[in-house]
Amino acid sequence: MVTRKIEGKEYMIPTHIAIIMDGNGRWAKAKNKPRTYGHSQGSQILEKVCEEADDLGVKYITVYAFSTENWGRPKDEVDALMKLLRKFLKDSIKKAKKNSMRVRIIGSRNNLDADILESIIKLENETAHLTGLTLQIALNYGSRNELVRAMKSMMIDIKDEKLTLEQIDEANFEKYLDTQGIPEPDLLIRTSGEHRLSNFLLWQLAYTEFYFTEKYWPDFDKDELIKAIKYFNQRERRFGGV
Ligand code: FPP
Repeated sequence: MVTRKIEGKEYMIPTHIAIIMDGNGRWAKAKNKPRTYGHSQGSQILEKVCEEADDLGVKYITVYAFSTENWGRPKDEVDALMKLLRKFLKDSIKKAKKNSMRVRIIGSRNNLDADILESIIKLENETAHLTGLTLQIALNYGSRNELVRAMKSMMIDIKDEKLTLEQIDEANFEKYLDTQGIPEPDLLIRTSGEHRLSNFLLWQLAYTEFYFTEKYWPDFDKDELIKAIKYFNQRERRFGGV
């Protein structure tokens, strides 16, 4: 973990920050705008936060963009979110290269339209070698779904005799997760006053510190990011020890 001076004081910077970007709909409603306006603003804020976090020395950001449960929202909202994601995936190639950012998409690849899948593969391939911030976007993601998919892949490897029952341990299991090879988040941020995990990274958040803010995601800014980092520095992480 790197340290950085903020306002004259040295702080540890979380290597990996996970974010539940909540409150887009309420933010838009408070402004008498459609919910989709909130999502659109939210996606712009994400870009800014990535740049600011990168400047501070954060190495990984994982955001919850679309959950397996979000398909149950009204069709026009799902369509608007998919349109935003399409644009984000396309625009990200250029921006990622400019900022040396690697982008990975986690979640199920089922139910996604063919063009979205294509954009995902292109974006991942073209940014795989970049060594700056890694942005993981959870898209069509649910943690229970991820765990079940991991278990199925493991069973297939056992059937194919690539893995034995004795070899299954926590380190080996981790290799079957979508987040394989990425260190666990040090800090989780959830905006908009909700205190739930909502099926996000259940395995990976086992020892993560949680920071909750009342702010809606489109109002999240550098000040709030620094507040979260200061909060993280007040915590004493014991990982189950004393
Ligand atoms: C939660 O707000 C937010 C989402 C379900 C989607 C998050 C998506 C974005 C920030 C934009 C798209 C992302 C990318 C990567 C392009 P909510 O709709 O649940 O808000 P509410 O709780 O106020 O209704």
